[in-house]
Amino acid sequence: MFSSRLFVPLCLLALGAQSSSTNSTNISSIVPLRATAYGSIFDATVTFGDQTFQLLLDTGSADTWVLGDGWRCLPPHASPDSNDTLPQANCTYGHPYYHTSSTLTPVEDWWLGVQYGDGSVYGTVGREDITLGNIRISQQTIGVVNISAMSGNDGVNVGILGIGYPIISMIHPISYPKNETLLANTVRYPSIFEGLIRAGMAPFVSLALERTRLDAEFGFGGRLGLGEMLPVSHGPFITMPVEITEAIPEELTNGVRQISEWTTTVQSASWANNSTYRAPFQVVVDIGNPINILPYDLADAVNGAFVPSASTTEFDDVGGPAVSCNATAPNFSLTIANHTFTIDSRDMIRRHASGACYSTVASAPPPGDGLTLMFLGDAFLKNVVVVFDMGRNEMQFAQRRISSTTASTASPPSSTGPGQYSSIAYTGSAGRLRPFWL
Ligand SMILES: *[C@@H]1O[C@H](CO)[C@@H](O)[C@H](O)[C@H]1NC(C)=O
Ligand SMILES: *[C@@H]1O[C@H](CO)[C@@H](O)[C@H](O)[C@H]1NC(C)=O
Ligand SMILES: *[C@@H]1O[C@H](CO)[C@@H](O)[C@H](O)[C@H]1NC(C)=O
Ligand SMILES: *[C@@H]1O[C@H](CO)[C@@H](O)[C@H](O)[C@H]1NC(C)=O
Ligand SMILES: *[C@@H]1O[C@H](CO)[C@@H](O)[C@H](O)[C@H]1NC(C)=O
Ligand SMILES: *[C@@H]1O[C@H](CO)[C@@H](O)[C@H](O)[C@H]1NC(C)=O
Ligand SMILES: *[C@@H]1O[C@H](CO)[C@@H](O)[C@H](O)[C@H]1NC(C)=O
Ligand SMILES: *[C@@H]1O[C@H](CO)[C@@H](O)[C@H](O)[C@H]1NC(C)=O
Ligand SMILES: *[C@@H]1O[C@H](CO)[C@@H](O)[C@H](O)[C@H]1NC(C)=O
Ligand SMILES: *[C@@H]1O[C@H](CO)[C@@H](O)[C@H](O)[C@H]1NC(C)=O
Repeated sequence: MFSSRLFVPLCLLALGAQSSSTNSTNISSIVPLRATAYGSIFDATVTFGDQTFQLLLDTGSADTWVLGDGWRCLPPHASPDSNDTLPQANCTYGHPYYHTSSTLTPVEDWWLGVQYGDGSVYGTVGREDITLGNIRISQQTIGVVNISAMSGNDGVNVGILGIGYPIISMIHPISYPKNETLLANTVRYPSIFEGLIRAGMAPFVSLALERTRLDAEFGFGGRLGLGEMLPVSHGPFITMPVEITEAIPEELTNGVRQISEWTTTVQSASWANNSTYRAPFQVVVDIGNPINILPYDLADAVNGAFVPSASTTEFDDVGGPAVSCNATAPNFSLTIANHTFTIDSRDMIRRHASGACYSTVASAPPPGDGLTLMFLGDAFLKNVVVVFDMGRNEMQFAQRRISSTTASTASPPSSTGPGQYSSIAYTGSAGRLRPFWL
């Protein structure tokens, strides 16, 4: 989910901000998140003009868009000129949708066309006044989608809030895009992360996801800190540089080797009774990805250590290995920047709307099968506090501590009535925003 043609160097580097200290001159805010689809999707409230929506939070993409009134639902990956229109309900988003407001400034000759792992969206582009937490961004470039060849997957969100590196954004000049050319011919525009910085935010966000019960479709999902650290109990912060993602070809980053995703290296992995995987591999840290996607030999070994074993042959529609809901998950930990982070066994098994369960450890395609990327998704992220620092091109991870004070500071936001959506049938969501090349 990236591309670029008209490249403008990342101007953020010049900001040189202090990442983990609060600065009274900066504005900051904490945004509560809503966990949906059985703890596999995290939605944030975003206001466009005076209209408020739930958007899926994604660190693996960089565009921000909302469904516009009258949008059309198409099958996943369909061409935008397809006549195969489906009922809107088939795309499993929430509602209502955005209608043109007096604060919208249309950008006449740009179009949105974003390709994700499980589909693509198309729409017009405008500048709109956006509010996220207490931070108001004047005239942020956003997309208003009129064709979705992709599903929302939780019956709640009506768009995506992309806080990845701007180089991977997909707005196109000249003409409404076609489905074959979404990676080509893109313009570089200020992403919402840059908009927040322009509005006065120190150039980092922090994230602390909360775990929900296995059988809870909706719940409090944690918090996103905008230029601010979060009030949760955790161990020491381990700092790591954001790495250039080696598997992403240079043609897709404008012929220049550069950072394109929030990427680090897993040095080793350990599971069960003293089993260790020692071949280092890069991972993209992706909130929009519900599961961990790991080297196939590691994933198979870990799935084999569930009691009873997770299947290595039977997968759900998006790649999650089938497993008994009452299986015992192996202990599993990952060493990153010389520090070992453990994954709670409750994050190793997740359920679908159907009641069936899947392992959150999935296998990337074996090497040689085209471009292979690994991911740390929500199943890992629930165990840590993460800082995504675009000013320093760093990430920081700290292991969460379970403590009674966590519970007292973690006051859930008032519910906006999940019950009204729970009758919508959808098919789980593992691999929700798995990149298109997988
Ligand atoms: C483009 O759309 C056509 C028709 O819907 C589809 O067959 C094709 O696979 C799509 N191409 C891509 C790259 O998604
Ligand atoms: C959709 O229908 C229109 C009008 O009938 C037709 O011109 C167009 O070719 C169709 N598109 C596709 C992809 O079949
Ligand atoms: C959406 O439509 C397709 C057929 O076009 C169907 O197979 C699928 O089950 C539908 N999904 C939902 C959630 O309605
Ligand atoms: C979507 O918007 C584009 C650009 O305004 C327009 O050409 C296209 O007809 C619209 N499609 C639908 C289904 O509304
Ligand atoms: C935000 O903080 C950084 C240092 O952390 C500073 O360089 C920058 O000027 C501040 N921005 C505003 C708008 O206050
Ligand atoms: C764990 O490893 C130890 C030492 O290799 C061995 O004695 C023990 O039987 C193992 N336990 C299990 C449950 O595999
Ligand atoms: C685990 O393996 C290491 C090296 O293979 C060994 O030194 C250590 O004693 C083992 N621990 C257990 C509990 O088996
Ligand atoms: C575990 O779940 C399976 C179905 O997935 C069921 O057949 C079995 O009785 C369950 N065992 C226990 C101890 O609950
Ligand atoms: C995981 O590790 C803990 C602490 O070492 C141990 O008590 C627990 O039994 C282990 N769980 C499994 C499934 O091996
Ligand atoms: C890990 O530790 C080794 C040896 O102490 C050191 O050389 C290396 O720089 C460390 N790596 C990281 C990412 O901190």
